[in-house]
Amino acid sequence: MGGVAAIVMAAGKGTRMKSNTPKILHQVCGKPLAAHVVQALRDAGIDDITVVVGHGRELVEQALGPALKYVYQEQQLGTGHAVLQAKGVVDHDKTVLVVSGDTPLLTPFTLQKLVECQQLAGAKVSVLTAVLSDPAGYGRIIRSPDGRVAEIVEYKDATPEQRAIQEINSGTYCFSGRFLFGGLTKLSPANAQKEYYLTDLVGMAVEAGEKVEGLVCSDEREIQGINSREQLAEAVRVMNAINLQRLMAEGVTVVDPFTTYIDSGVRVGRDSVVLPFCLLQGNTVIGEECTIGPQSRLSNVSVGNRAVVEHSVAKDAVIGDDCLIGPFAYLRPGTVLGAKVKIGDFVEIKNSFVDEGSKIPHLSYVGDSHVGRNVNVGAGTITCNYDGKTKSHTEIGDGAFIGSNTNLVAPVKVGSGAMTAAGSTITKDVPPDSLGVARNKQVNIQNWVSASKK
Ligand code: UD1
Ligand code: CA
Repeated sequence: MGGVAAIVMAAGKGTRMKSNTPKILHQVCGKPLAAHVVQALRDAGIDDITVVVGHGRELVEQALGPALKYVYQEQQLGTGHAVLQAKGVVDHDKTVLVVSGDTPLLTPFTLQKLVECQQLAGAKVSVLTAVLSDPAGYGRIIRSPDGRVAEIVEYKDATPEQRAIQEINSGTYCFSGRFLFGGLTKLSPANAQKEYYLTDLVGMAVEAGEKVEGLVCSDEREIQGINSREQLAEAVRVMNAINLQRLMAEGVTVVDPFTTYIDSGVRVGRDSVVLPFCLLQGNTVIGEECTIGPQSRLSNVSVGNRAVVEHSVAKDAVIGDDCLIGPFAYLRPGTVLGAKVKIGDFVEIKNSFVDEGSKIPHLSYVGDSHVGRNVNVGAGTITCNYDGKTKSHTEIGDGAFIGSNTNLVAPVKVGSGAMTAAGSTITKDVPPDSLGVARNKQVNIQNWVSASKK
């Protein structure tokens, strides 16, 4: 949107969270509260975004990234004082959206509507409001007898009659930049909280005979500000439900929406099925016709088509088409699996590439390795990749067969088509098509058992 700038108020501590982390960095569906707000602004077409930071300033700037402008509010003297800090960096000729960093459910659609409302009416201020059955501690919208917005009264300053009003201030506004920055310097903290209230600009505009609009948000979930851990959990519930609805509309089966948690950035292909008790997190992308779960957690994982992941955990990993993972597999960062790979029960893979058609079906650890195609890794095989100082590489060639309970002491290579005998501790390279045996010969002592019983 051309000619529109945004200011995100994010300097407060969030006392009611009782946290060492600044409130707006608490996460909802994989992203900090304020990152959702920034995303909604961007999706509404607004790139000129200034964030007012204060508490945990460095952490906030780090989390939201360098593409935004930051201004510092040293002392939190109120929302009006917060926005005033942006006076020097925002173009006063622009239309200015002001939002709180703690309203993660705001949609780009509503933000666009608010700007449109302001521009069509030629208003100086437009306030996004909502009518709530339980308006709790929100500021109240006072309308004059003709129905126009007259002022906003904070709950703490309100009379009992005003507190009975159910239309509240959502904390999202659209201002004419010139009016905004002119008005902010005239605010006074003569109120119950001794703060500079941004909301006083509404009454100020009305008194000056300027046009003020109130846009009622039809979905009250959208304007929910997060002030407590309980409200945080509620926001997760709402956003998760929205994410699941989107995926279901796109052709994904979610068997149990009540126990399935999917972050906002996750994509899932059609005809994939997500079984109960799954968490799909971060930038996870899942292809078509996969079965995920039950009870699996995938974080920043890319999964191909028709893969099955059951009772497993994977992080920063790639799973190819038609792979079978689990139950009880653990794929750690740097795992890359080609197509048709089987990783079975109690198998851990780390920083390794396993090529097409290979099987590591039971009780193995494979780390810092390259496993070729159609390799069979027997139960209990371990790559001994760490000697306490350095991590070393294991190379297993195409078609190799690793006998059960082999220890591969890295750095070591097993050539293509080679085998290792079960129970071997392989410390030297095994050439292609050869058998590596590294274990003691068995000795049978006849009648030893019966003799020892006498
Ligand atoms: C504010 C509104 C209230 C509205 C409510 C909606 C005012 C005076 N009141 O109240 O009418 O119903 O939001 O949620 O604006 N912040 C700063 N610096 C400050 C103070 C606040 O950056 O000095 C930031 C906070 O970090 C937060 C946002 O502004 O992200 C809102 O502040 P908060 O204290 O939560 O406002 P409310 O009391 O909820
Ligand atoms: Ca406050």
